[in-house]
This record gives sequence, structure tokens and C-alpha cells, in this order.
Amino acid sequence: MLYLNNKLVSKSKALISVFDHGFLYGDGIYETLRAYNGVVFKLDEHIDRLFRSASMIGLTIPKGPEAIKKTVYTTLRANRQKEAVIRITISRGAGPIGLDPGLCRRPTFVIISNKFKNYPEQYYQKGIKVAIVNTCRNFRGALNPAIKSLNFLNNILAKREAKDKGAYEAIMLNYRGHLAEGTISNIFFVKDNILHTPETGVGILDGITRKSILDIARESGIEINEGRFKKEDLLNSREVFISNTTMEVMPVSHVDGTKIGTKKGNITKLLHKAYKKEVADYVKNH
Ligand code: PDD
Repeated sequence: MLYLNNKLVSKSKALISVFDHGFLYGDGIYETLRAYNGVVFKLDEHIDRLFRSASMIGLTIPKGPEAIKKTVYTTLRANRQKEAVIRITISRGAGPIGLDPGLCRRPTFVIISNKFKNYPEQYYQKGIKVAIVNTCRNFRGALNPAIKSLNFLNNILAKREAKDKGAYEAIMLNYRGHLAEGTISNIFFVKDNILHTPETGVGILDGITRKSILDIARESGIEINEGRFKKEDLLNSREVFISNTTMEVMPVSHVDGTKIGTKKGNITKLLHKAYKKEVADYVKNH
């Protein structure tokens, strides 16, 4: 079952118009959330970001934050899922052909909940390969990556390049050659025992997992450098990992075919363990 506009419907009945501007133009926004043991982790943070994305594209979400939170749980429970990946998608809605958002009377609101399938354990043990791709991350002044938009071609083109190079994730630079982020993840690296990650000003999504990791690092007394970095900084580091809601902390073993320091470095391990503890505490308290 999934939630479409105002009700739960079966997958086969969940149909939207071919005139939906989400389909025609990628005009809309989304969030991906993770439920652990029936509790949706950092639900408030995801709903806040959903509303931020909406306001950045001038979209009025047809429900309030509390109603959306309830609906997320309604969908999760209707599917009897405890471990799940939930996606909230809101498009501009159906309207005549034409770019004007005013042509669409009502946004389309969808919540999908799927059983969470773990990434292969070997990814966490051995690390994944990433490739620094030629596709630049969208320029902030054109389509701000801080908007979690349905307009995903930038990321898809980068992903295609990574796949062609035999890498699992693509790392994009911004138009000035500064490290930005992955196609669905933020990037971190450790050098001289300092945790580095691109600052949001380079044009990235302000990841919710990224923020947790930075908070954990701060509390653990790990020095942090949020800044502007080059491809070489990544290649010359001791540890590299990527983060997002579903992967949590995923170690990287190779960047462009170059082996990185240790397969799962000490700081990466510490951060992932602490992240899992944060999840466990959150689940206990909600
Ligand atoms: N992606 N950067 C990009 C471009 C992303 O799409 C994502 C998340 C992140 C990490 O954000 P967070 O930690 O809040 O999940 C960074 C989700 C998982 C997705 O596209 O499904």
C-alpha cells in the first residue's frame, strides 16, 4: 500500500496523470527517510527539510508538518514494516503543458514505504569504489543542490559516468573544481586525524546524516574542517567515507582506482559505531 494525495491505495491503483509537472518537468521535491524497528529516524529534520525545499521552489504543501508525520506512520504501519525506506514525493501536480507552476491546481502527494534491504555487508567491511566524474554538481545559482528536487538528471549523468568506470558512487566537483558530493550522498575524508567535509557553501545538499556525523565528531573531540577542497585532497587522505540516510557511514576503499589508506579507518569506524548508537537511543526514546 502507498499513500496518494488523501488516502492509502494499492500499488496497482496508485496512478498519476501524464500531465503531472513532476513527470513533465521534474518540478517537485522529495525526502528519503529510514525507519528502524518501526520508528522513523529524524522525522522532524526530514519534514523541516521538505518544507525548506518546498519554499525554495514556491510550492505550497497541501498538508501541515504534523499531518505529514502522521501519514508517514500510517503508510509504514499499513505495510506492517519495521525496517523500511520511506519516500515522500510532492510534485507541482497536473496541469496543461507549460512551465508556469500556476497552471497546476493541486500538488501531487505520495508516500511510498519499502522494506529496507541492507547493503551487502562486504561494502562496509571492504569499502566501496568511487569515481570523481566530469559532470559538475549543479551550480548553486542555477539549481541549488540544497533543494532536494525531483530534477535529478545532474546526479543521473554523474552516476552513469561512475558506472562506466566500475565505481559504485560518483563524486562531483562544483563548477570551480571544489569537492561537492556524491549523487545521493555526502563525502568526508580524514587527513592528519582531522575530519574534512565540503562546506555547504560549495553547493551541496545539507545532509541530515552529515549533520549527525559532524555533531558526533565534535562530541568525540575529533577536529573538523568544513571547507573547500580539491580532488587531490581526497586522493591523499587516510580515510574516505560517504554518508546518507540509508547507507549511514559507508567506507570508501578506492577513489578513481587509487587505494585509500586503510580499508575501514579508525575514525570511520568510530563514527559509524557512534551513529548506530544514536539511532538506537533515538528508537528507544520515540
Ligand atoms: N539522498 N546529497 C545528495 C545529492 C542526496 O541525494 C542525499 C540523500 C544526500 C544525503 O542526505 P541525507 O543524509 O539527509 O540522507 C546528500 C537520499 C538518500 C536519496 O536520494 O534517496
